[in-house]
Amino acid sequence: MKKDIRFVASPPAVVAGMLSLARVGPDDLVYDLGCGDGRLVIAAAELGARGIGVDIDPVLVRRSRENAVAAGQEERTEFRTGNFFEADLSGATVVALYLLHSVNAKLLPKLLRELRPGTRLVSHSFDMGHWPADRRITVEDKWIFLWNL
Ligand SMILES: C[S@@+](CC[C@H](N)C(=O)[O-])C[C@H]1O[C@@H](n2cnc3c(N)ncnc32)[C@H](O)[C@@H]1O
Repeated sequence: MKKDIRFVASPPAVVAGMLSLARVGPDDLVYDLGCGDGRLVIAAAELGARGIGVDIDPVLVRRSRENAVAAGQEERTEFRTGNFFEADLSGATVVALYLLHSVNAKLLPKLLRELRPGTRLVSHSFDMGHWPADRRITVEDKWIFLWNL
């Protein structure tokens, strides 16, 4: 298992800000690429969306599933062990990232190839280099960026 970035959790207020900026609601299928402990996927489910978390670390995937059960959100959530560079993103209406500039840059071609028009992309702290965000906000001094595909 070679991680492109280690696990650092988004604070709850930042998770809420990401979901709000992406206008997540019951019609959405939200992916978190590198889902950590599952908190963003679970919070999306609490808004009525369905969520899929992908993480390369099987211990974190197990923890995400346990957290979803504890939150009563196991029906609306799914957690997959895998590399986000190889993840099937079909059906996504929202994609969330908390990675690094370098990893965002490597993921961008896949996102542009696979995400359908109308999908919202949100990123905590890191922008997409030369692709300007449509909106950006700060929550607890952290930048959150939004792109509308
Ligand atoms: C900074 S954490 C973000 C966690 C969560 N998205 C959040 O905002 O709280 C990045 C996560 O990406 C995972 N990760 C790193 N490289 C990966 C890869 N190539 N494929 C899938 N997950 C990866 C790490 O295990 C870690 O949980």
